[in-house]
Amino acid sequence: MVQIKFNTLARHIYEEERKYPDATGELSDLLHDLSLAAKVISLEVNKAGLVDILGFTGDQNVHGEQVKKLDIYANDMMIKAMDHGGHLCVMASEEDEDIIHIPPEFHIGKYVLLFDPLDGSSNIDANVSIGTIFSIYRRVSPGNGPGTMEDCTQQGLKQIAAGYVIYGSSTLFVYTAGNGVHGFTLDPSFGEFILSHPSIKIPKKSKIYSINEGNYLYWHSGLKKYIKWLQEEDKSTGRPYSSRYIGSMVADIHRNLLYGGIFMYPADSRNPNGKLRLMYECNPMAFIVEQAGGRASNGKQRILEIQPKSLHQRTPIFIGSEEDVLLVEKFLSDYEMIEVK
Ligand code: AHG
Ligand code: MN
Ligand code: MN
Repeated sequence: MVQIKFNTLARHIYEEERKYPDATGELSDLLHDLSLAAKVISLEVNKAGLVDILGFTGDQNVHGEQVKKLDIYANDMMIKAMDHGGHLCVMASEEDEDIIHIPPEFHIGKYVLLFDPLDGSSNIDANVSIGTIFSIYRRVSPGNGPGTMEDCTQQGLKQIAAGYVIYGSSTLFVYTAGNGVHGFTLDPSFGEFILSHPSIKIPKKSKIYSINEGNYLYWHSGLKKYIKWLQEEDKSTGRPYSSRYIGSMVADIHRNLLYGGIFMYPADSRNPNGKLRLMYECNPMAFIVEQAGGRASNGKQRILEIQPKSLHQRTPIFIGSEEDVLLVEKFLSDYEMIEVK
């Protein structure tokens, strides 16, 4: 008889949690709620191209509902899916200026959720992969009341889980709870995430670099030298490297996790703190990449050790294969040009 062996996300999370005898199961429930939100957002992302054809372009869709931009839709969906599970005391989103409180009618839990509801959103209309990024902390504020800003601005090192969902040629849910990185592919026929990428390990050294080279003029000289060095020919160090830049951090980092690579969004003379957000993009990705054996820094300091000063702060980031990140750090320090505020 043919034996079909597969593991669903729900079962995997449960089995992982069983390894810790004092675990309460709450983190499992929270991750499960997130996977439900991911399925709903995935459905909406997949029909985005039909919006014009089906006449959804006015202010209202066929159901008489207000048509929303996909990033706002994803944001609302995350909040709606997560605010009543009983596990969170507060949330924060890249799309909302302030922290998001749990409505008073719902139970207040002990976890904190931060997210970028739709990353790479400028790519939506071009059918390029986009994603959702999330980060989970334990509350640190005293009491059992609503969570606070203090809960939402913890060092990345304090994350207890993080992950992303990539809406690409298929939908994948990739997460870590501090015990490796595991990826699950959504089977659209029966709506389950199935373990497809167990224990992802990023190669120590790569042949791929990802950076927006249109900003070359504004970079510091150490970075200019590093990129030129990657482009030179030298078989012994595997050069020249290939350049791959999608413009969706989730998609660029996902590819680099699988094939090896370094992703960079540096500081430059126009953006002294880079572009990407520490709490919603850099910390969760740094946790995932470190768990896969890679490295993530702002050029001088480990991303996960940065003490946040504000919810929406930005940081330069160099993330991916360990040897490549170490080398760019060396170029930057040799030229002592990096400006980190
Ligand atoms: P978001 O869509 O959440 O605003 O993030 C976009 C980010 C990130 O996904 C991507 O790596 C980067 O912006 C691309 O920026 P550039 O267009 O400046 O290269
Ligand atoms: Mn983003
Ligand atoms: Mn976004």
